[in-house]
Amino acid sequence: MSKIATLEIDGKKYEFPLIEGTENEVAIDIKTLRGVTGGVTTIDPGYKNTGSCESAITFLNGEEGILRYRGYSIEELAEKADFLEVAYLLIFGELPTKEQLEKFHVDIKAQSHVDEDVKKILDGFPKSAHPMGVLSSLTSALVAFNPSSVNVDSEEEMYNAIVRIMAKFPVLTAWAYRKRAGLPLDYGDDSLGYVENFVKMMFKKPSSDYQSNQVVVDALDKLLILHGDHEQNCSTSTVRIVGSSHAGIFVSISAGINALWGPLHGGANQAVIEMLEAIKEDGSDTKKFMSKAKDKDDPFRLMGFGHRVYKNFDPRAKIIKVAADEVLDSLGIDDPVLDIAKGLEKEALEDPYFVDRKLYPNVDFYSGIIYRAMGIPVEMFTPMFALGRLPGWIAQWKEMRLRKEPIGRPRQVYVGETLREFKDISKR
Ligand code: ACO
Repeated sequence: MSKIATLEIDGKKYEFPLIEGTENEVAIDIKTLRGVTGGVTTIDPGYKNTGSCESAITFLNGEEGILRYRGYSIEELAEKADFLEVAYLLIFGELPTKEQLEKFHVDIKAQSHVDEDVKKILDGFPKSAHPMGVLSSLTSALVAFNPSSVNVDSEEEMYNAIVRIMAKFPVLTAWAYRKRAGLPLDYGDDSLGYVENFVKMMFKKPSSDYQSNQVVVDALDKLLILHGDHEQNCSTSTVRIVGSSHAGIFVSISAGINALWGPLHGGANQAVIEMLEAIKEDGSDTKKFMSKAKDKDDPFRLMGFGHRVYKNFDPRAKIIKVAADEVLDSLGIDDPVLDIAKGLEKEALEDPYFVDRKLYPNVDFYSGIIYRAMGIPVEMFTPMFALGRLPGWIAQWKEMRLRKEPIGRPRQVYVGETLREFKDISKR
């Protein structure tokens, strides 16, 4: 293939190099476009065709339904690794040795305390506050308790900053839940694994011993792995762009949490269950809601269907569907909302509207069902996603800083008024 792309504007030709990724993805390198053309820019709302960076973290091919972290398939990682191992892989680029993984865990445990004063900030929120807002605020607040900025050229400082946020984030997530549930704030148990400890921090009752359920812990571990990273999605791009101004790791991650909150992104898992509940309340008529989803005059969309990049199937959805069946079986749960989900899925997969537009169930269609079976309330679904995505955000922030990427600053095409004269207020 030619290594050059040619662009012609008003009869004048410009050449731009093509760059090729390790998986043969081709991109036109337009870094010099404005300079050589005298100010011509590109426009691509939603960045459907625009690469913002070169990245060695996650490969995904939406047409073929492939997702790999650092070259390892998501299917193999979900089956053979645990979440902390995958977090290490994402952040540091290689699977850890036994010693590296142990050290990572020991270092995390040593940092898992959150300053007691953070509890006062949490106290200021009403119980009804959405845990995503609480989580993003508390994550931002961490900067006040850990004020030293990270020297990104120091491997040790980078490592310590990463360990700090990996350690404190599950505590904050559990606290956001406990505050809402009216439960006393608690710390975890250093003798437990990272995910099991988190489950205990969430569900431990003040007056009884916590009983671990391995099926729940394993399913959650898998869910977190599947959410670990997803290359340049909305929240990750947000983390990179905020971090590109050299804002610190806590606030960059906090910005990612806010981006994740929206129902078109991480908020979809909450929206799926709310939609299924609404269908149940309305008489469980799935056909009615299928028609609404297809009606262009109706804003209703089938939550949990469609994906910006997966136009074949979402490989995470395949894995999670199996995990959902296992959890429901082992917990002996018979949930009418699940029957509605199954009905909708079947109808959508056979409906020409969804088939023609390549709209398949995405990871969030099933994750909410698992969370619900585990007894996690619906407002906590997106914070669970954030916990899973944390290593990906950290890895992307670290990569962006180590590559010394320039500050993110898109261009625009101005379509407003041209120069006009100011009119005094008495004449308007
Ligand atoms: N229900 C009904 N119609 C849909 C849906 C849906 N869930 N999703 C897309 N469509 C239709 C659109 O109306 C459009 O139809 P048209 O071509 O006739 O105009 C066509 O499919 C293409 O849709 P776009 O919005 O252009 O697709 P895009 O790639 O921009 O959006 C998105 C992807 C935002 C995920 C969308 O499919 C959606 O809103 N889905 C529901 C929300 C959801 O599940 N989000 C979770 C995403 S996964 C995640 O964040 C982890």
